[in-house]
Amino acid sequence: MQHTNRPVARILQLSDSHLGASRDFRLAGINTYQSFCQVLEALPDRDAVPDLVAVTGDIAGDGDEAAYHLFNQVMAEQPRSFAWLPGNHDNFPLMHQVLHQPFRRVIELGNWVAIFLVSAQPGEVSGQLADAELTELQDLLHRHRDQYVLLFVHHMPVEISCQWLDKHRIANHRQLADLVTKFPGVRALFAGHVHQPFSTSWQGIAVHSTPSTCFQFLPGSDGFELSEQPPGYRWIELYADGQLKTGEGFVAGAGQQVDHRCSGY
Ligand SMILES: [Fe+2]
Repeated sequence: MQHTNRPVARILQLSDSHLGASRDFRLAGINTYQSFCQVLEALPDRDAVPDLVAVTGDIAGDGDEAAYHLFNQVMAEQPRSFAWLPGNHDNFPLMHQVLHQPFRRVIELGNWVAIFLVSAQPGEVSGQLADAELTELQDLLHRHRDQYVLLFVHHMPVEISCQWLDKHRIANHRQLADLVTKFPGVRALFAGHVHQPFSTSWQGIAVHSTPSTCFQFLPGSDGFELSEQPPGYRWIELYADGQLKTGEGFVAGAGQQVDHRCSGY
C-alpha cells in the first residue's frame, strides 16, 4: 500500500547496548559505549525529530550501576523523547533508582499507543510475562481498544531459526497470543535480545526483532556465533489508517571488529 500522507508518528528502536561500567568496556571485541554513540549519531532525523526512541533492554551488559549512569549521560544529550524497558542483563529495580527517565508503561502517539512490557525475570536468561504483567496488558488493551497498538518487549515470542536463542523466547507466548488476538487494534510487536533483524507474522500480528547497537549474532546459528554485521537500529513509521512501515538501519564504517574468539558472555 502506498502512503502519500506523512506518518502520524515515527519511532526509532535501539536495543541491547550492553554498556559497561566505563567508556572503555569491551564485549566480544566491541567498545559498546562507542558503538551506542555511533548509532545515535547515525539515526535518521533529516526531516523531523522522531516522536519516540524505544530502548528495548539489555541497556547494561551486567546490570552495573555505572552503566546506567553512562546511559543517563548519553541520553541527556539527545534531543529525543525516549522510553525503555529491561532485558535479562539488566537490573530492573536498580534502573528505577538510577535512570533519570522513569519507566513508562504507555506512550500515546496520535491514534496509536505503544505499550512497554517486561519479559525479563530476575536470574533468568529466557523470557516470561508474569501474571500481573498479562493482567495489566489486558486492562491497557481494553482501555485503548479504539487505538492502534504496538507492543515493545525484550524477548521474542517466536522462534527465529537460531536454536540457542529460540530457547529464550517468551515461555508463555501462547498466553500472550490468546490475549492480543482478542484485540484487533494490536498491529505489531517489536523485540530485542536476538541481536539481529528478523520479521514474521505471528497470529496475524507483525513481529520484528532489532539489531543490537553493538554486535550481531549470526542468523541461522545453532549455538553462540557472532556475525560481521555492524551496529544497527530499527525505524518505524505509523500512519493514521493503522498501517505501519519498518526497516533496519546499520552503521556502515563503524570501524570496530568483533572478536570471533568470544564464545559467549
Ligand atoms: Fe537479552
